[in-house]
Amino acid sequence: MWTCVNGLNTLEERTSQMAGADSTARANVNVALVKYWGKRDTALNLPATGSISLTLEGLDVEAHVRFGPGDEDRLVIDGAEAAGDEARRLTSFLDLVRATTRRREAAAVVMRSSVPRGIGLASSAAAFAALALAASRAAGWTLDAAELSALARRGSGSAARSIFGGFVEWHRGERADGVDSFAEPLAPADHWDVRMVVAITSTTPKSVSSRNGMVRTAASPFYPAWVAGADADLAEARAAIRARDLEALGLVAEHSALKMHAAALATRPPILYWRAATLDCIHRVWALRADGVPAYFTIDAGPQVKVLCAAGDAPRVVAGLEMLPGVERVLVCGPGRGAEVIG
Ligand code: PMV
Repeated sequence: MWTCVNGLNTLEERTSQMAGADSTARANVNVALVKYWGKRDTALNLPATGSISLTLEGLDVEAHVRFGPGDEDRLVIDGAEAAGDEARRLTSFLDLVRATTRRREAAAVVMRSSVPRGIGLASSAAAFAALALAASRAAGWTLDAAELSALARRGSGSAARSIFGGFVEWHRGERADGVDSFAEPLAPADHWDVRMVVAITSTTPKSVSSRNGMVRTAASPFYPAWVAGADADLAEARAAIRARDLEALGLVAEHSALKMHAAALATRPPILYWRAATLDCIHRVWALRADGVPAYFTIDAGPQVKVLCAAGDAPRVVAGLEMLPGVERVLVCGPGRGAEVIG
C-alpha cells in the first residue's frame, strides 16, 4: 500500500488516452495538513518549505482547452467570461504552455467548478491542476507526472499537489530553476478511510489573496520560526500517515495551521482570515475531542474550518458544527483521486 500506486503509472495511463488540439481534464481540490505559506521564488512559485496535503473527492474543477485560430484567448469560468486578475493569471499560464511548446494559437478555455471560488476552499489548486493537464495535452506536450505537477505549480503553488490523489507531499526543492519542486503521492486515496468535514462560515470573497498574504507574512517576526519548523512537521505528518495514526496527524495539522496564522497575524499590517464563527468551530472541535471524538481542524487563507476525522465519526462532527450559529453549510469529503483526462 505504501507505494506510489496512485501516482506515476496510473497518471500516465490516464493521460495517454489522447493528445491533440483539444482536451478536457478534471482535478480535485486538496487541503494541506502541513501548510505551504511562503515562497523562495515568487515568479516560479517555489515554496520556502515542503507541504503535505489530502486530495478531496467531490470538490473539483473541469477544464476544457482548445488551441486554434484567433487573436485572443477566450476564457469562460462557470458560464461567465473571466476578467481582471483571474483572466491575467490564466493567460500567463497559457503563455507558459505556448512558449514551451512553441505554439502561437489562441486558446479557448471553458472551466466548470463545483467549488466556490476565492473563499479559501482551494479552488485554484483544482483549477490549475486541471488546466495544466488539459492545456499540455491540447498542446501535444507529453509530461510525466512530476513534470505535470511542476507545471501546475506555476499556476498556483498548491495545484502541484492536486495532480495526485490521496496523501501528497510537495517538495520544496533546492534548485533555482525549480525542476525539483514538484509533488509526489505519499499514499493513495484508499490507504486510510478518513473524512474532511468542511464548515463554511462565510462565502464573502477573502480580502487578502494567498499570493499577497504570503508576501506580506515574509515580513513577520515569526516567519523565520515558521520556516524553521516545517521539516519537523513534515516528518511527523509522513510518519503519522504511514501508520494511520489520526491523533498524531491531527495534532501536527493543527499545529501547522496555527503557526501559519500566527505568523500572518504578527505581520504589519496584520492579516486575520478568521471570523467569529471560525473560532467557534475551533472550540467545538476541541470540545468534541474532550468528548472522545478524535477530530482535528485546519484552516487555510479564509474563514472556513476543515476538520479531519475517521469516516465513522463524520456524522458526529457534522452535527457538532452545523448547529453553530455562524456556520452556513457543512460538507463531508473523503480522500479523492488525482487529476485525470476526461475527454
Ligand atoms: O496555492 P496558493 O497560492 O493558493 O496557496 C495556498 C495556501 C494555503 O492554502 C493556505 C496552504 C496550502 O498549503 O494549500
